[in-house]
Amino acid sequence: IPVAGIAGKAWTFTQFGTVYVVDDNITKTPDPKSPKVAQFQGLYVTASFDGLRAFATASIVFTNEEYNRSTIQIQGTNQDPDTEVAVVGGTGKFRFARGYATSKIYFLDTATQHSVVQLNVTVQTS
Ligand SMILES: *[C@@H]1O[C@H](CO)[C@@H](O)[C@H](O)[C@H]1NC(C)=O
Ligand SMILES: *[C@@H]1O[C@H](CO)[C@@H](O)[C@H](O)[C@H]1NC(C)=O
Ligand SMILES: *[C@@H]1O[C@H](CO)[C@@H](O)[C@H](O)[C@H]1NC(C)=O
Repeated sequence: IPVAGIAGKAWTFTQFGTVYVVDDNITKTPDPKSPKVAQFQGLYVTASFDGLRAFATASIVFTNEEYNRSTIQIQGTNQDPDTEVAVVGGTGKFRFARGYATSKIYFLDTATQHSVVQLNVTVQTS
């Protein structure tokens, strides 16, 4: 959901300065009804003047039994096809985490703006 942007400009994903807040479910498979593993909570900011790169800072907040309430913090900018961001830390079972995360669009319905994104996160904790 866009919550801020440059006055007088449309608050869109390709407009520099637009800030989005996200709270997305992370599920085991692309099926939204598959078991929920975590939530992806954070901010996206369109951070290049050409509108092509988005800066993301977010927490992956686990809700499944194995990692319940532990978190992985990610941060970085994105421009298709470069979709790698850094894992900059974590809490709980992911204390001292570092690594990287890659993503790709698995499904996109432009009419409804609904998308499903595949996320691979690789971390080391020691
Ligand atoms: C996200 O998960 C919650 C259950 O924790 C569910 O109520 C909600 O409908 C899900 N949202 C989407 C978009 O699937
Ligand atoms: C996660 O922890 C909360 C709070 O301790 C608890 O209420 C919830 O049932 C736990 N969820 C799972 C899947 O274990
Ligand atoms: C995630 O890993 C799987 C298995 O190695 C691979 O097929 C897939 O392309 C990867 N996806 C991303 C977004 O990195």
